[in-house]
Amino acid sequence: MEKYKVLFVCLGNICRSPAAEGIFKNLVMKSGLSECFVIDSAGTGRYHIGDLPDSRMRRQAARRGITLDHRCRQVCDEDFERFDLIIGMDDNNISNLRRMAPSPQAQKKIHSMAEFIDRDKFRYDHVPDPYYEGTEGFELVLDLLENACSRLLDSFVHDSRCCSER
Ligand code: 4NP
Repeated sequence: MEKYKVLFVCLGNICRSPAAEGIFKNLVMKSGLSECFVIDSAGTGRYHIGDLPDSRMRRQAARRGITLDHRCRQVCDEDFERFDLIIGMDDNNISNLRRMAPSPQAQKKIHSMAEFIDRDKFRYDHVPDPYYEGTEGFELVLDLLENACSRLLDSFVHDSRCCSER
């Protein structure tokens, strides 16, 4: 069985994308589908390489039962080969990813997290950067990511894209 490989991407890889990674891993685990996925995150920037996620994000995620222990890394060329789906959090991430993509085929793997947000519930067309915000900013990001990750997982299950011979 081939695993489906999903990479979440933001700017710093210490707030939004490691939170998306942790939330999606948790949902996948609860659904008994951990064997079907490889899930990781990375940043387009290189400011925090090797760091744990931001302590504010770790604290707010822990209150929801999610442990974030990813170590920050930058997106690399190999990611565009290895992963099936590369999901950026905002337009800036998407345009940076498009610029970094080594081929038109690699470009097709790039999607926006906004595609998975339920727009009847949240009036957001991106996942906003919480770095300069207070606790509410981090809570908003977690709300958006929980919603989007759950719909992302549903899309795999409904399309029978996971746990199938591909
Ligand atoms: P993230 O947030 O892209 O969600 O990880 C940021 C973290 C750090 C910085 C910017 C955004 N920074 O400029 O250091």
